[in-house]
Amino acid sequence: MASLMLSGTGKLTVLNNRTPNGLGFTTSDFHGKSLSFPKSSINATSRVSYSRTSLVPKCSSSSVSSSSRPSSQPRFIQHKKEAYWFYRFLSIVYDHVVNPGHWTEDMRDEALEPAELTDRNMLVVDVGGGTGFTTLGIVKHVDAKNVTILDQSPHQLAKAKEKEPLKDCKIIEGDAEDLPFKTDYADRYVSAGSIEYWPDPQRGIKEAYRVLKLGGKACLIGPVHPTFWLSRFFADVWMLFPTEEEYIEWFTKAGFKNVQLKRIGPKWYRGVRRHGLIMGCSVTGVKPASGDSPLQLGPKEEDVEKPVDPFVFLPRFILGVLAAAWFTLVPIYMWLKDQIVPKGQPI
Ligand SMILES: C[S@@+](CC[C@H](N)C(=O)[O-])C[C@H]1O[C@@H](n2cnc3c(N)ncnc32)[C@H](O)[C@@H]1O
Repeated sequence: MASLMLSGTGKLTVLNNRTPNGLGFTTSDFHGKSLSFPKSSINATSRVSYSRTSLVPKCSSSSVSSSSRPSSQPRFIQHKKEAYWFYRFLSIVYDHVVNPGHWTEDMRDEALEPAELTDRNMLVVDVGGGTGFTTLGIVKHVDAKNVTILDQSPHQLAKAKEKEPLKDCKIIEGDAEDLPFKTDYADRYVSAGSIEYWPDPQRGIKEAYRVLKLGGKACLIGPVHPTFWLSRFFADVWMLFPTEEEYIEWFTKAGFKNVQLKRIGPKWYRGVRRHGLIMGCSVTGVKPASGDSPLQLGPKEEDVEKPVDPFVFLPRFILGVLAAAWFTLVPIYMWLKDQIVPKGQPI
């Protein structure tokens, strides 16, 4: 699957342009056209104009956290405790139900390509590694003993521990926003499908920067904000679906250089990106100097260990789970369309 590569921070409005088919995306875009944008480390907010200004929370140059959720975007599962319980149940069926419909092996391998896992001796951390599906892609290129899987869900990690190719990996519980690795530790930071649950994604990306060695590379894979109104509604109720511009901005603010974004998605979507979840992206950046990120943030706001008010937690959890159900129907609907609509035509 060929992908669109974007370099730097500028002029990403082109991605929001409407196409003749109204999808905000053309099939030819998805299948190989390559666009380049000027590289720059200046604040992306001043360079990027969003077409969904009123709906998308922005990291302004003065903000120190990206954790705010406007009332139009309650994101009920973008909280650590809710995500913990979500995966308490989802872990039971995750490998059988979630990945085949949302995150396929060929997508994974395409998405990991920009990580440049070129040496078996590289030290790699897989953050939000869950049941180890993405780690299985990593250990094709890197010795398992050099790979650490970190996740806040012991239930997801229990599934990873059962996998034979991962038996030599280090498997630890931890928080993506507060990694238990020393500064300048790893050659590669990988995180797939986890940022959408982080209450403060900018903090997680700042941590990615900190734990990498000089010249190390972060590869963060995640969904994109849907443009189809119903998918956008359910996405905003469920969790964080960042825009492509936000990914670039978070990486740039954390201090990464050579920030690039590669679009990914399953073949049966034929390039349609309006539903957001699995039509996502793989964002990479290189650490240009050793030490911590130049970005200063205030204290962490949420901890999975913190007790919650059950009267607030429960309704939030139930509404979030209901919204998530929409995204089990979308891939089936798109698959059926792919079967019915003649090949070569837009769906
Ligand atoms: C969709 S799963 C992705 C799992 C795996 N990376 C894969 O590719 O299949 C998201 C994972 O992120 C984990 N997660 C969510 N918030 C986290 C946090 N703050 N710190 C660490 N892991 C987190 C969840 O527990 C879950 O296992």
